[in-house]
Amino acid sequence: MAEELIIPQHLSKEEKYKALIPQINALVMGETDLIANLSNIIAALKFSFNWLWVGIYFVKEEELVLGPFQGPVACTRIKKGKGVCGTSWLTQKTIIVKDVDQFPGHIACSSASQSEIVVPVFNKNSEVALVLDIDSEKLNSFDEIDSSHLSKITKLIATLL
Ligand code: SME
Repeated sequence: MAEELIIPQHLSKEEKYKALIPQINALVMGETDLIANLSNIIAALKFSFNWLWVGIYFVKEEELVLGPFQGPVACTRIKKGKGVCGTSWLTQKTIIVKDVDQFPGHIACSSASQSEIVVPVFNKNSEVALVLDIDSEKLNSFDEIDSSHLSKITKLIATLL
């Protein structure tokens, strides 16, 4: 297992994803514990992009429940259909929020968060098992480059479930 990430900070966002994804694969290779692997994936994303908050919410019965994350403390439970995370779960779609103040029902765990992306992860029955949530302190931080590369990471997470 690789124990140190190499992500030169001068790279473009796309180049960082391209450098990061093989390293994430190497990080989880040979480890079967889900929480250990998710924790390292979250740390790798936080370290590479220095976003405000990167974390997981697990689907547990009728709620999302906080899982491994890096960043400020966060709300622990979110109902289906509520906030960006609950809406991603309900619609089964990636949601990019360029300005959280413009998203009706956005749940502000941190007042510093200004934009957000949430990507659902599906289990073998094509149900949402968890969502990957990323918050930025800047407006407009996320676009199609993020959704396309993060969906590669969420597909990898799906193989770990
Ligand atoms: N903003 C999210 C809540 C989770 S925090 O961002 C960590 C939402 O609206 O679902």
